[in-house]
Amino acid sequence: MESSDLKKIIQGIPKAELHLHIEGSFEPELMFEIAKRNKITLDFDSIESLKKGYMFNNLQEFLDIYYIAAKVLIHEQDFFDLTWAYLCKVYSQNVLHVEVFFDPQTHTDRGVEFAVVINGIYKALEKAKQELNISYKLIMSYLRHLSEEEAFKTLESSLPFKHWIDGVGLDSSEIGNPPSKFVNVFKASANHGYKLVAHAGEEGPVAYIWEALDLLNVVRIDHGNRCLDDGVLLQRLRDEQMPLTLCPLSNVALKVILNMKDHPIEKMLDEGILATIHSDDPAYFGGYMNENYYEIAKALNLNIDQLMLLAINAFEASWLSSEAKAKHISQVKTYFKSLNS
Ligand code: ADE
Ligand code: ZN
Repeated sequence: MESSDLKKIIQGIPKAELHLHIEGSFEPELMFEIAKRNKITLDFDSIESLKKGYMFNNLQEFLDIYYIAAKVLIHEQDFFDLTWAYLCKVYSQNVLHVEVFFDPQTHTDRGVEFAVVINGIYKALEKAKQELNISYKLIMSYLRHLSEEEAFKTLESSLPFKHWIDGVGLDSSEIGNPPSKFVNVFKASANHGYKLVAHAGEEGPVAYIWEALDLLNVVRIDHGNRCLDDGVLLQRLRDEQMPLTLCPLSNVALKVILNMKDHPIEKMLDEGILATIHSDDPAYFGGYMNENYYEIAKALNLNIDQLMLLAINAFEASWLSSEAKAKHISQVKTYFKSLNS
């Protein structure tokens, strides 16, 4: 298929984004604009020199820059602008539903109040719901390089805003920070009504995926690339139709895989796993939803049925009501049928 035809098809797919760190959607142009108005000097003297630093050998090298960049976010308006810019971008890519991670500790540890962070993000999400017809869920992520005690403090801070938060996640430096470190805070989060997800098996071993399932009781695994290493796990993921939210451009940028052609998603689909495609930190990894679909489809030569399955899986794996899921899945099917006529 011609590249332009593939891009056109991908543009038209009704999409759901389930793995997106809002701080990872911080484009350099907006970063410099907010730094200027907050009178903060970035370590980089231009957008070009900042972008030159976007070459990572692993997750940690990326996180080091990601946390530095987040330091320019101070006021509610900054969090609003960040979130609104992301939503406008994905609106242009026919994304109809988003489930967005935010990392409160990245900000509260610098003295920015939890309320400031969540008010800005929430107001932008609500505006997008009203004006762009994008539905959303919000997921608060605990930073796994910090202690469980600190995660408990974050849980406590979130409670006045519980009605705006749908779930909790676990992100940041994976190796050496297994899910087992957060068993108690995940249990407490569930008792407060939060749904549970965790990054596992991105860089870390397959044992972390087992821990996320068995010790944290998550309803979705973020990444989970390493599951193909373990046949018993694969069977479990298939039987439970446990969603894996995969992020192809992220995996190449962070050298989780060396080449897009080595990406495990096609094998996962063949194995009957509920695998989905998302963008993780699109401002850093070279693209949003469309670009992730395009690069993976091109590298693996995915066919139309596989593209449709990926789009359906994302709505299936979402936290939308069963009615909304059915509506969107039928939209996806109608779209793909229209390509044949
Ligand atoms: N935080 C932001 N992006 C992340 C990723 N890909 N893995 C773990 N933590 C993250
Ligand atoms: Zn992630």
